[in-house]
Amino acid sequence: MKYSLPKCLLAALLTLALGCSTTKQTTIANTKDSQLPVDRRVDSVLSLMTLEEKVGQMNQYNGFWEVTGPVPKDGAAAIKYEHLKKGWVGSMLNVKGVKDVKALQKIAVEETRLHIPLIFGFDVIHGYKTISPVPLAEAASWDMEAIEKSAQIAAAEAAASGLNWTFAPMVDVSRDARWGRVMEGAGEDPYLNSRIAVARVKGFQGDLGIFNVAACVKHFAGYSFAEAGRDYNTVDISDNTLHNIVLPPFKAASNAGALTFMNSFNELEGIPATGNAYLQRDILKRDWNFKGFVVSDWGSMGEMVSHGYTKDLKEAAEKAANAGSDMDMESHGYVEHLAALVREGKVSEENINDAVRRILHVKFELGLFDNPYKYCDDTREQQTVGKKEFHDGVLDVAKKSIVLLKNERNLLPLKKTGQKIAVIGALANDKTSPLGSWRIAADDGTAVSVLEGLSQYKGNTVTYAKGADVAVGATLFGSETRINTTDKSGFAEAIAAAKKADVVIMVLGEHGLQTGEGRSRTKIDLPGVQQELLEAVYKANQNVILVLQNGRPLAIPWAAENIPAIVEGWHLGTQSGNAIAQVLYGDYNPSGKLPMSFPRSVGQVPLYYNHKSTGRPGGDTPTESVFWSHYGDEANSALYPFGHGLSYSKFEYSNLKLSDTSFGKSGKITVSIDVKNSSTVDGKEVVQLYVQDLFASVTRPVKELKAFELADIKAGQSKTISFTIDPKTIEFYTANKKWEAETGDFKVYVGGSSVTKLEASFNYTN
Ligand code: NOJ
Repeated sequence: MKYSLPKCLLAALLTLALGCSTTKQTTIANTKDSQLPVDRRVDSVLSLMTLEEKVGQMNQYNGFWEVTGPVPKDGAAAIKYEHLKKGWVGSMLNVKGVKDVKALQKIAVEETRLHIPLIFGFDVIHGYKTISPVPLAEAASWDMEAIEKSAQIAAAEAAASGLNWTFAPMVDVSRDARWGRVMEGAGEDPYLNSRIAVARVKGFQGDLGIFNVAACVKHFAGYSFAEAGRDYNTVDISDNTLHNIVLPPFKAASNAGALTFMNSFNELEGIPATGNAYLQRDILKRDWNFKGFVVSDWGSMGEMVSHGYTKDLKEAAEKAANAGSDMDMESHGYVEHLAALVREGKVSEENINDAVRRILHVKFELGLFDNPYKYCDDTREQQTVGKKEFHDGVLDVAKKSIVLLKNERNLLPLKKTGQKIAVIGALANDKTSPLGSWRIAADDGTAVSVLEGLSQYKGNTVTYAKGADVAVGATLFGSETRINTTDKSGFAEAIAAAKKADVVIMVLGEHGLQTGEGRSRTKIDLPGVQQELLEAVYKANQNVILVLQNGRPLAIPWAAENIPAIVEGWHLGTQSGNAIAQVLYGDYNPSGKLPMSFPRSVGQVPLYYNHKSTGRPGGDTPTESVFWSHYGDEANSALYPFGHGLSYSKFEYSNLKLSDTSFGKSGKITVSIDVKNSSTVDGKEVVQLYVQDLFASVTRPVKELKAFELADIKAGQSKTISFTIDPKTIEFYTANKKWEAETGDFKVYVGGSSVTKLEASFNYTN
């Protein structure tokens, strides 16, 4: 497609410049000179803008239908078109596909006075059309290369479809499995979250070429700490938790060059994040020197009224602008009130200029000023979306995301011939659920089901019985149906199939839309009658392999106790069934490790390995006295802890060594360990290093992940894995309210999960 804007931009700008001073002409030339530094070009555009046009850049509208938020008001579409033509819109969300994007971009660059291009945002969370595992599942791979690749695929398809900005990655550290959005992040650990945040930002943004999009790091900040795991609920956390647990992944993503941030729905210290200057101005823009812009979450500016923080939308706009929230997603607060607020002296124009500079800067970085149709090529769209290599890529990361939770009686891997296999469970035959939540551009029915995956293997006989439905809680775009399935009429068929089989594969769990935004649950067991089905089938045949499909940790104590083999198969995306079948048949040796602890009971949540010691610590063993931190009816520990995951190989750890037992300010030590693959199959193991700061100016977690390595170890061979510990490793947000390393005694633990027993000690002397 030939891009014709420069001519019309030039014409318009020249008309505008007629009769203007030389300064103005220089300014106009500057906007078009791609050799000039971006800052100068940004200032040139800014100097041409009226106040209303500046405010327009800070306004983001949803497309003209409901996709990821509440239904727009009547007549909204007409107003939006009118505003687009006036240059009062800086960005659109939920408009996708080259045709639609191009149509709106055309209005912005051909019909408005200044021809400033729009930036198009979309929730490309784990793929666009070709879907990767949900982010929580991908985190289980602990494989940064695979995660980066997955983000690249998502970006390539989205960019080819006209989009240039994804609202991802979500880097909220999540400790509460009731919260539906745990599926969208990287789990409970700040370090793992930070590493993954960097991989995702790099994957999405790359070198900002035609197959890349701007990342948006969200939700800033504290959103995942919603009380009782109920989405949008109040958040009340300490500054210590904020700095030590919540913020590190955001900072890592900002350092990695993320172009934008999104604030969050929740309040923090009684101030909604959208109006929170401590978060946006002080921490993000001042302390971290973040140069990009902050978009509000959907309607979060207006919601400050419901929070009881501002009396009306106008005051909300004032608070948001003064707090450093640069773009308003669908509250209409800025477009309706910001210009007046500036005239009334309640918001300074310098404030507005700063926000607009940031927004224009991102548009320049993306190349939209040089070619607003950079992302609008029909041929590229057709040739890119759904490419074979993308399917291979998402299959690769799907296999890497699977976690083998338990494997007894040699049930796995499956023998390839001569077996009668019964496959049971509605999810086994489902081609939509494995796509998971947040895959709004993908088509229903496009995932490979488990049954389809298994059918690639011809040597065994497979029979299928549904058994029971999964109780589904919600449909994709927000409307809700609560189906409390009690129908057990399929049990008899399932039991009969199990009786005739050598081995039974039960695919149970959550429907893909039972997690995600607005999908919190108070029960985190197997929904509906699936638990009863599991027990009934197990009675008929004990050779049960349970394949879980879910977007959050589930409490499955009965299965953990009784079922011999359990495979965590998450919502793995388009290639789900193939990935699961290859793992079940041993064509892929699983190496995933849990990024979130699996509780024994919902009563334990929030549950996380890096908890504090408390004044009355204790393990799981009851003592004579009741006066210690425990439950009377349940153990403290996780059912499956953070970092847990088995393999068809067997790994043995020995010889934990420190190069020294002490180091100072400019020093470091090396920790090494031997890992032996004592099995007959090659495998991969995530070797994890944890550190415990024994006493400090503020209490510290019982252990914290500080490093890991994904080690390939051939059958029968050993590898020595080494890690470095230096002052940076042990830094934390201290009582002095800054990040620093404190002197003292530390323990280091290395192993294949967070409950590893191998430990050594060292001292930091300063
Ligand atoms: C609300 C969600 O919280 C946010 O993550 C998402 O990006 C926006 N809606 C836009 O869909």
